[in-house]
Amino acid sequence: MNARVLELKARGVDVFAFGVGEPDFEPPQHVLDAAKRAIDTGASKYTAVTGIPALKQAICEATEKMRGWRPGPENVCVSVGAKHALFNLAVALYEPGDEVVIPKPYWVTYPEQVRMMGATPVLVDTREEDGWKMSADQLAAALSPRTKAVILCTPSNPTGAAYTEAETRALVDVLRRHDCWLIVDEIYAELVYDAFRFASAAVIAPDLRGRMVIVDGVAKTFAMTGWRIGWSIAPSALTKALDLVQGQSTSNATAVAQHAAVAALRGPMEEMAARRALFERRRNAMVAGLEAIPGVRCRKPEGAFYAFADVRGLYGLEHDGKVLQTDEDVVFWLLDKAHVAAVPGSGFGAPGYVRFSYAASEERIAAGIVAMRGVVEAAWREDRTGRTAKQR
Ligand SMILES: Cc1ncc(COP(=O)(O)O)c(C=O)c1O
Repeated sequence: MNARVLELKARGVDVFAFGVGEPDFEPPQHVLDAAKRAIDTGASKYTAVTGIPALKQAICEATEKMRGWRPGPENVCVSVGAKHALFNLAVALYEPGDEVVIPKPYWVTYPEQVRMMGATPVLVDTREEDGWKMSADQLAAALSPRTKAVILCTPSNPTGAAYTEAETRALVDVLRRHDCWLIVDEIYAELVYDAFRFASAAVIAPDLRGRMVIVDGVAKTFAMTGWRIGWSIAPSALTKALDLVQGQSTSNATAVAQHAAVAALRGPMEEMAARRALFERRRNAMVAGLEAIPGVRCRKPEGAFYAFADVRGLYGLEHDGKVLQTDEDVVFWLLDKAHVAAVPGSGFGAPGYVRFSYAASEERIAAGIVAMRGVVEAAWREDRTGRTAKQR
């Protein structure tokens, strides 16, 4: 997919970049200024493996301010992105014979890290009709004496679905009766829309914090994907193990980036609120636009910056002698004909769906939708079966 996008771009084609998983903004100016100051004031040396004290402190304060509970610095391990924090957890926790429960569709890194450790991902099918969320009964059925951990991602990549307080409460009620780790990836928690109130499992079930890990980072909230700062908040004994694991691999995350992250977490939040409002408008535009394409349906997600559309209504359409039969066919077709880049759902364990990122301006979203609608409507006109989008 990416190779094809690059090929088109090299030919001068203006590709609508709805495939990317990163905000199109720059980090706030005060973050960039703090990084420059850090360079000028000697942030060039190794730091403690788990991070500089100021950043750990800022993470604890931000967790209290934004999520409503306060961990201590002994619970925090700063890593080279949230992905690295998850990898450290995988090394520290998973062994062959272990099972790790992961709702499907999933961010592809979760099951792959489990498999890399020789453990087994237990994938739980969630359905669009259920808001792409795992129920308490489904979780209970997936647990076994071999379950080492359950990984939740809320709001989710790829579906944008977020668990309500009641839904999370129902899941933790099940986990109270089962001794395993709960790992919650909250990297998109600041990006929720309408009246949705994000409720952290750590607040809902303080009694489970002894076997709970929260994974978070600055990448999505502050548009700092390239700075590579993420972290885990875990019981201190597990954090010590993560210190050992990280100490034998990357050691500390880049010192300058850590100082930038302190500025992000301690800085003014008004700009972030404005960005959230903008993302909400973009979501509305993307979802409404996709829904208006004959043969495409799209649930309105609660958060993140992804619209996860059902494209099965396009199956059967023909182009260049080829019949669209899979989400990958649809994605390549949209790329070639409408110059829209998106990601096939099968990569996330959800064939039949396509992930469209709305981390793009409203103008680009509108233009991309017009382009997609144009090629799909033309294909329907050429369709020789005489069916309409509704009949499929
Ligand atoms: C659900 C989820 N968790 C974690 C990450 C990785 O974050 P980081 O860039 O901090 O490694 C991503 C990035 O796409 C993500 O979608």
